[in-house]
Amino acid sequence: MESINKFLIEGWGARIVDGWAEWIDKAETTGDLIGRAALGAVAGQTLAMDTTSVNFYRLVRAAITARPGRRTIITDEANFPTDRYIMQGIAEELDLNLVIIPNELLEHSTGESFSNELVTPEILNPHLTDDVALVTLSVVAYRSGALHNIKELTDLARESGALMIWDASHAVGAVDMQFDRDGVDLAVGCTYKYGNSGPGSPAWLYVSKRIQSELRMPIQGWFAQRNQFLMGSKFEQTEGMRGFQIASPSIVGLLCIDEGFGMIEEASISAINDKAAKGTAMMIELFDQWLDPLGFELVTPRDSNLRGGHISIYHPDAAQIARGLRDDMKVIPDYRAPNSIRVAISPLATSYVEVFDGFERIRDYTKSGKYKDLDLSGIKVS
Ligand SMILES: Cc1ncc(COP(=O)(O)O)c(C=O)c1O
Repeated sequence: MESINKFLIEGWGARIVDGWAEWIDKAETTGDLIGRAALGAVAGQTLAMDTTSVNFYRLVRAAITARPGRRTIITDEANFPTDRYIMQGIAEELDLNLVIIPNELLEHSTGESFSNELVTPEILNPHLTDDVALVTLSVVAYRSGALHNIKELTDLARESGALMIWDASHAVGAVDMQFDRDGVDLAVGCTYKYGNSGPGSPAWLYVSKRIQSELRMPIQGWFAQRNQFLMGSKFEQTEGMRGFQIASPSIVGLLCIDEGFGMIEEASISAINDKAAKGTAMMIELFDQWLDPLGFELVTPRDSNLRGGHISIYHPDAAQIARGLRDDMKVIPDYRAPNSIRVAISPLATSYVEVFDGFERIRDYTKSGKYKDLDLSGIKVS
């Protein structure tokens, strides 16, 4: 808050256009902070800008163009809706073959089925042919919380000649990712979940230095122009990450990211990752003792190497229970259709005691059966 006030009063209010020179590179400097604090990425590979969806569209288009002659693109059924919709749109636009890998189903005791949504190398491999231009998955599945093995899956895609884009929105700020070490090609993510950068804070995109010169953005904006302020007549993409920027940075949003990712850097992503692993392990222990006997099923993998900062619990009446917890118990879980409730330890902000108390309330509320009287018709489910 303080840094934003200071910027508005002293930086913008007093300096007006003279301040421009100080802010013009801010998408790159804030991007470098995100890379350093949370992605295991050295400077010059991350840009903070726009939204995850828009950045994802750009990277998908750029990756397809960089693999001429290949006409297949792959994602999985459990990927976040915006990623799947964008892939569908691009497949239609360019007449490509879109493969959506189905997620293996597990049987619930009520007879309904659910999935832990984990794509393993064994599941991906049969889909990889020499026609595949691009594979894209989420690092952490938004619903189940399953954590993919970034290195193994990226290596596999690369062996087949494809590029791989990771959507790290549900991992960034909770999972210790090491993009440079693990050979990641391309990635996108947001800053407003575990990044704590506030509503509407810009997203980011990562392009490995190895492949920057191979890729071109589908929108050629003036910020990507070599010698931008010569205002030349013909577009010529500048080197490095600046060649992936389109237009003016949203400075106030970027200052919010500096605060959020500054905290992550100070606490260290490995310590945060450790707390997420312990916090989710504690949730699973409480689940086994208290929630399993009440008809819940754990959707998230039990191995802490296979999950991120949240767990997902399945219940046939998940929508009513999630609503009732919010309204009556001051517990804010996140309901996801059709039948799961996500519970997160936001490791920087939430204590183990708060997790314990929250689970006690989930147990007591479900035991009370009060949710059965809730009428959800007309209620906006979120
Ligand atoms: C995995 C994932 N990808 C993409 C998005 C979309 O983000 P944006 O609204 O910034 O495009 C979200 C939003 O929650 C998300 O969880």
